[in-house]
Amino acid sequence: MPGVGKTTMALSLCNDQEAKGAFQNNVIFITVSQSPNLREIFETMWEKIVRRKKPDFQNIEDAHRQLQQQLLRRSKRTLVVLDDVWSMAILEKLSFTGEGYKTLVTTRDRSIIRTTTSTRLYELPLLDGADALPLFCFWAFGQKSIPSNADKQLVKQVQAECKGLPLALKVIGSSLYGQPHPAWEGAKNELLKGESISDYHKEGLLRCLETSIDALDEEARECFLDLGSF
Ligand SMILES: Nc1ncnc2c1ncn2[C@@H]1O[C@H](COP(=O)(O)OP(=O)(O)OP(=O)(O)O)[C@@H](O)[C@H]1O
Ligand SMILES: [Mg+2]
Repeated sequence: MPGVGKTTMALSLCNDQEAKGAFQNNVIFITVSQSPNLREIFETMWEKIVRRKKPDFQNIEDAHRQLQQQLLRRSKRTLVVLDDVWSMAILEKLSFTGEGYKTLVTTRDRSIIRTTTSTRLYELPLLDGADALPLFCFWAFGQKSIPSNADKQLVKQVQAECKGLPLALKVIGSSLYGQPHPAWEGAKNELLKGESISDYHKEGLLRCLETSIDALDEEARECFLDLGSF
């Protein structure tokens, strides 16, 4: 699901000491996105994995072949994180084998993952109230709990309408930062009615989700309609 925290989770894994240790510091994060520049990705991989002067690749097939040869020659544990992959075809072009070579893929569309016995799928859950409230408060108040002078019930109602989606907690929370009580009331009412709170919300979410609406499955689309963003 868009905005659920896949990139955040993948980046934090790349910075995790235990994960880095397990891969002898060979952890590489690559942003793939909807229309990736494969040549650039292969050049980055060459630079970070092979760590020798890059040959002149004739084309992307040649780059893949040369990288694959290198990976078969070495046995260093390596983790390559492919963030935001949109299609099976691109994923296949970015797939390599090698002793100790592992790939972590993040995607909004699990159907692009061809499962094998060595594949592990993990669906990132939405945040529950215990995690969602501090995140919402952080953006809405600059602190991790509801300030004593705020309307506790109202804050919780608005936060609950973000449905545990980190992106919505951030965009809606920050748009209410410093706003007076009526703005909060208005926000709650509009969220409950299923309308967007303000242009700021709409634009903030739309910017973040620009390319993702078509990729939403029915359940996710419902969630966003509930949020009143579309
Ligand atoms: N666990 C979390 N704690 C705090 N903030 C989070 C968390 N997860 C995500 N966020 C925030 O929510 C926003 C969306 O997260 P992120 O970009 O990781 O989502 P995504 O699943 O990668 O979305 P997309 O499918 O659009 O790439 C970011 O601004 C991020 O900082
Ligand atoms: Mg992402």
